[in-house]
Amino acid sequence: MERFQKFILLPLILTALLTDLGFCSFIIKGPTNATVLAGSEAHFNCTVSLDWLIIIWLSNGIPVLTVIRSQGPVETSDRFTSQNYTNSNAFISELIIHKTQLSDSGKIECSIQQPGESGFAFLSVQVNGSLFITNSTLTVKENKTIDIVCEALGWAPAPNITWMTNDSFIDKSRYVTQHSQGSNDLHNALSILTLTPTDTEILTCLADIEALPHPQNASVTVMFVNPATENEYSEDSGSTRVIVLAVVLSVLGIILLIIIIVVVVRCCCLKKEESIYQTEIRKAAVEKKKDADLEDRQQHGSENQAYIPEELWNVAKIPRVTSLAPMSSKFTVSYADLYTSSVPKVEPQRYIDYPINPKKIRNVTLV
Ligand SMILES: *[C@@H]1O[C@H](CO)[C@@H](O)[C@H](O)[C@H]1NC(C)=O
Ligand SMILES: *[C@@H]1O[C@H](CO)[C@@H](O)[C@H](O)[C@H]1NC(C)=O
Ligand SMILES: *[C@@H]1O[C@H](CO)[C@@H](O)[C@H](O)[C@H]1NC(C)=O
Ligand SMILES: *[C@@H]1O[C@H](CO)[C@@H](O)[C@H](O)[C@H]1NC(C)=O
Ligand SMILES: *[C@@H]1O[C@H](CO)[C@@H](O)[C@H](O)[C@H]1NC(C)=O
Ligand SMILES: *[C@@H]1O[C@H](CO)[C@@H](O)[C@H](O)[C@H]1NC(C)=O
Ligand SMILES: *[C@@H]1O[C@H](CO)[C@@H](O)[C@H](O)[C@H]1NC(C)=O
Repeated sequence: MERFQKFILLPLILTALLTDLGFCSFIIKGPTNATVLAGSEAHFNCTVSLDWLIIIWLSNGIPVLTVIRSQGPVETSDRFTSQNYTNSNAFISELIIHKTQLSDSGKIECSIQQPGESGFAFLSVQVNGSLFITNSTLTVKENKTIDIVCEALGWAPAPNITWMTNDSFIDKSRYVTQHSQGSNDLHNALSILTLTPTDTEILTCLADIEALPHPQNASVTVMFVNPATENEYSEDSGSTRVIVLAVVLSVLGIILLIIIIVVVVRCCCLKKEESIYQTEIRKAAVEKKKDADLEDRQQHGSENQAYIPEELWNVAKIPRVTSLAPMSSKFTVSYADLYTSSVPKVEPQRYIDYPINPKKIRNVTLV
């Protein structure tokens, strides 16, 4: 019996000795599948027995990082780093892949450099593309069937497209989705939803890939117009048209008014200038006529009498000029007055008076 027990124990003791020397380390748990968005980090754990000597990480068969028991991790690229965890019965090496790229997708392997002892998993790097509904807000009448188009561009892999109306999913039979290959291993999708609205609804197109925590979505509002509200709508637009017309007309009216005012003001200015000539001419003409009349009939003496003393006084004041006055005609005098009108009034007024004076004097003599 004792011999038999010893016979059984011997291999156990030998095994224990060998494992202690590191001849028989093993992988307790290999890495697990991971799906990440391009640009983010990917983490993989490899749990090995405490008697490990070396751990080699491979990406698609190429060694990317080595961890040596005596030295620690040997990193040759910024993109592949590692962390260590040790507990009472295992050692964990965690591989971290930074800034993941589509090309990182594939097999991730953990090897302890012993035959048959390797664990592997798969990394899937995905790309969150863009999503949009090509139609803007629509107004749809009763019994009208419409097509709404949703486009997904630059995804990896091709996204799964679904549709919702308000908060419930639309049956797959009501839309058709086509997938196409884009550039750089990316995928596009085009989904066309056909529906006949019976109410105003918010249509949402959702695109999903595994790496997204929530599907990406795009929405459009379809306004349903039934015949009853259609009348209101047209009335509304009718009154809107009236308002717009009123505004446009009043603006035009104001512009017209401004133009008229400008034209009138300009005309007045021109007339004022002209009127200086004309009044002077008329004055002169009237004076001439008066003179003639007085000479002929001697009737307006009473009117002239008022002038007489003044004119006489003027003449008396500057007797020198009176002698020159008779030479100039009345028309040239009025022109001279026009040119000097800006000059202080005292002198020019006298100027006008001089040529008139002699005739007045004559009138006086007549009266
Ligand atoms: C890991 O991914 C591979 C390839 O995608 C798949 O075949 C395998 O079943 C996955 N394993 C688990 C545990 O999901
Ligand atoms: C790896 O193991 C460590 C320690 O248990 C844990 O904190 C970490 O989340 C694990 N990483 C993965 C990718 O499972
Ligand atoms: C995916 O892309 C959309 C649009 O660019 C963005 O709004 C969303 O946040 C992205 N999702 C993640 C998880 O990065
Ligand atoms: C929505 O847009 C697509 C293409 O941009 C067009 O073919 C379709 O007729 C539009 N649908 C409606 C209801 O306007
Ligand atoms: C819509 O269709 C229904 C049933 O075919 C019909 O009774 C109704 O008059 C239609 N409405 C309009 C506005 O054409
Ligand atoms: C959907 O939502 C809109 C706005 O919230 C609402 O007016 C409409 O009645 C809803 N349609 C349905 C079918 O529930
Ligand atoms: C659409 O996306 C936004 C932001 O990502 C989110 O808040 C919203 O709940 C989503 N809508 C649906 C119907 O999933």
